[in-house]
Order: sequence, then C-alpha cells, then structure tokens
Amino acid sequence: MDKKKLAGEAAVELVEDGMIVGLGTGSTAYWAIQAIGRKVAAGLRIQGVPTSVQSETLALQLGIPLLPWAELGRIDLTIDGADELDPQLQLIKGGGGALLREKIVASLSQQLIIVADESKAVDRLGAFPLPVEIVPFAWQATRRQVRALGCEAALRGGETEPFVTDNGNYILDCKFGVIEHAHDLQVQLSAIPGVVETGLFLGMASAAYIGCSDGTVKRLD
Ligand code: 5RP
Repeated sequence: MDKKKLAGEAAVELVEDGMIVGLGTGSTAYWAIQAIGRKVAAGLRIQGVPTSVQSETLALQLGIPLLPWAELGRIDLTIDGADELDPQLQLIKGGGGALLREKIVASLSQQLIIVADESKAVDRLGAFPLPVEIVPFAWQATRRQVRALGCEAALRGGETEPFVTDNGNYILDCKFGVIEHAHDLQVQLSAIPGVVETGLFLGMASAAYIGCSDGTVKRLD
C-alpha cells in the first residue's frame, strides 16, 4: 500500500459536513483531495481552499466547491504534506514550491493536519534544503544576504530557467545543515527585504498522520 495514500486518506476522516477545508499541495495531499472529492460526490458539503494552482485544478476536476479568495476568513481544517517534520511538529515545507499559499492557508486554519510517509519524520530539521521564496527583483543580492546567514543557497531551476511560483516569485533552496534554532532562523530570513516567506512552519501543525511501511497510520500530536 502506498504510504502517502494511507496517510492522506486517514486524515480525511476528520473532515465534517459544513467545514471550510484547506487543500494542501503535493503527492500526499493529492490522496487527501481525491478522498475529499469522493465524499463530496457522496453528498458531503464543504468549501475548499486550495494552496496552489495544481490543487485548485484537481479540486475543480473532482467537483469540490471552492471558496473565493476574497471571502477567505477562518478555515476549519487544512490537510497538507511536508518535506520534513520533527517531534515538535516543526516543519520544512515548499518542496513543491507552494509554501507561500500553504503558509497563508495554514495561518488561517484552526487545525493544520500534516500527512506524510514515514521518511519525512526526522529527529531534527535540515537534511532537506529549506525552500525560501524570494522576489525576482535583484534576486542575486537577496541570495547573497541569505547566504550570509551561513547556507548554500541554490536558485531552484537554475539561472537560465528559474522555477517561478504561482505568485510569480523565485525559490532559493538553502542548505543550512541541521537547523538548531528554527525560530531564530525564521526571524533572520524574514528580516531580509527580498525574502517573501520561508518554508519553516513553526507552531502551526496540530497533528500529523504518518503512513508506515507496515500498513498502519501513526498519529503524532
Ligand atoms: C509543497 C509542499 C508539499 O507539501 C511537500 O513538498 C510534500 O510533498 P509530497 O507530499 O509530494 O512529498 O510543501 O510546497
């Protein structure tokens, strides 16, 4: 059984009639959106809030009603993936490039439920390069400022054809090594004017559903 599918589908059991539901991005959130789509087809009434154009397209294909951005307020529950999660449920996100919308949606959510396979659960964050969304204007100068914090920072996609986010920005994938002081790093990165947002999600996740190779799903709180 696909561990991502197990986790994604298990978390959808938390979705209740009438909820406003954040729809995450990536190959694990994909399974959650599919399961929500089946519930909607069976009569569940929810409104979805997609965290990327990719998830929006999928939700529309599945007939999931979407809340217009202009009406966005409180979200009851968001189900999203992660690139790494530690025992305190601190996260690195943004491997799929959707970190900004994901963080906006997470910040509005009463509950952020993370879905992942067991390879994403780590003791300490940092093996996965931290995605940082930056404005394209003078990106080289912004990268110099980010590098000055002590990392190797690669422009995603490369200089000839940089990856462009749904918001028209670039991404730096930053290798800091083990991240000892995630809150300090968040503050330092956010203080750089060209940085739009980082993939550090701290104190946001309520629980995680982890798909394991023995076919079980472990819940972490
Ligand atoms: C996208 C994300 C994804 O949730 C993260 O990359 C995990 O993806 P996957 O479930 O495909 O492993 O943060 O920006």
